[in-house]
Amino acid sequence: MTHSHHAASAHRVHGQATDDNSHRHDDAGFPDGGDDLLDLDGEVLAAYWDAALDRVAAAVTEAAGTGTRSPARVVDLGAGTGTGALGLARRLPQAEVVAVDVAERSLARVAAKAQAAGVADRVRTLVADLDDGCPDLGPVDLTWASMSLHHLADPVRSLTELREITSPGGYLAVSEFDEPVRFLPDYLGAGRPGFEGRLLGALESVHAEAVPHIGSAWADLLADAGWTVVDQHDVVIDERSPEHPLAGRYAQEWFTRLAHGLEGRLDPDDERTLAALLDDDSPHGLLRRADLHLHGIRTLTIARR
Ligand SMILES: C[S@@+](CC[C@H](N)C(=O)[O-])C[C@H]1O[C@@H](n2cnc3c(N)ncnc32)[C@H](O)[C@@H]1O
Repeated sequence: MTHSHHAASAHRVHGQATDDNSHRHDDAGFPDGGDDLLDLDGEVLAAYWDAALDRVAAAVTEAAGTGTRSPARVVDLGAGTGTGALGLARRLPQAEVVAVDVAERSLARVAAKAQAAGVADRVRTLVADLDDGCPDLGPVDLTWASMSLHHLADPVRSLTELREITSPGGYLAVSEFDEPVRFLPDYLGAGRPGFEGRLLGALESVHAEAVPHIGSAWADLLADAGWTVVDQHDVVIDERSPEHPLAGRYAQEWFTRLAHGLEGRLDPDDERTLAALLDDDSPHGLLRRADLHLHGIRTLTIARR
């Protein structure tokens, strides 16, 4: 087993494409249900997505070279807007990919993207609440679960059910946060230094109650569910002065959601700083800043049945 990951981070926070099981609970006032944020995550953090999905595709195709068949049935579990589903369909041209999510609205984006990419014949969508039991999709050769397992009521139970519908030798790849993505320098030219750290600290308190599985030791949970972990690897996100034209929008979408989720939990000074960041006319506004630095860590864990 390759293992470059140490103990699960103390951070029990989501980053960006993260705390957005909002489709179901906390999304009043966000007509897109968090989908824009997921799409921006896929676009702006393309280097992370490529590194993670390349590694997963390499693992399953190398195994195919040693006699195991190339994956025929791939599942994107908690697919959101389908960055993983589409990325795997592109990398595994023999595979049928099923994007599963409780949010029909997100899956509509997956279907539109599949159509645009010319893979609609191989990418299908399935609306299902995984807390009601794993849908019978078997036999599954590869499951990709990105930032979705921590939303489930009982991840070990769901992972056990998933294992039952996985073909012998089949794969599960899980990507979860180690460190949430951060965007800002310590001093912003406004407010007190350490602003972003305080916001993430406040978010951590919210999550400790509402999303208790964030920050779990996923390799251990996979093992508890009967999976054999074969690889664990930290994928580092580190984009200083990001060139992507949507980086500012990604930051703005994230801090807008944070403002919503942390309403009433910040001190007045941080409230003012947040308002300035979100104000397009402010010199401190996120869309104008030249000092964004996107950095964080996601941990990719690959297991076999
Ligand atoms: C943070 S998003 C991640 C989306 C996508 N995998 C990505 O990485 O961009 C979590 C996703 O899990 C889905 N989800 C949460 N709980 C679920 C459940 N019980 N059953 C099915 N999907 C669920 C949400 O609807 C959301 O699309």
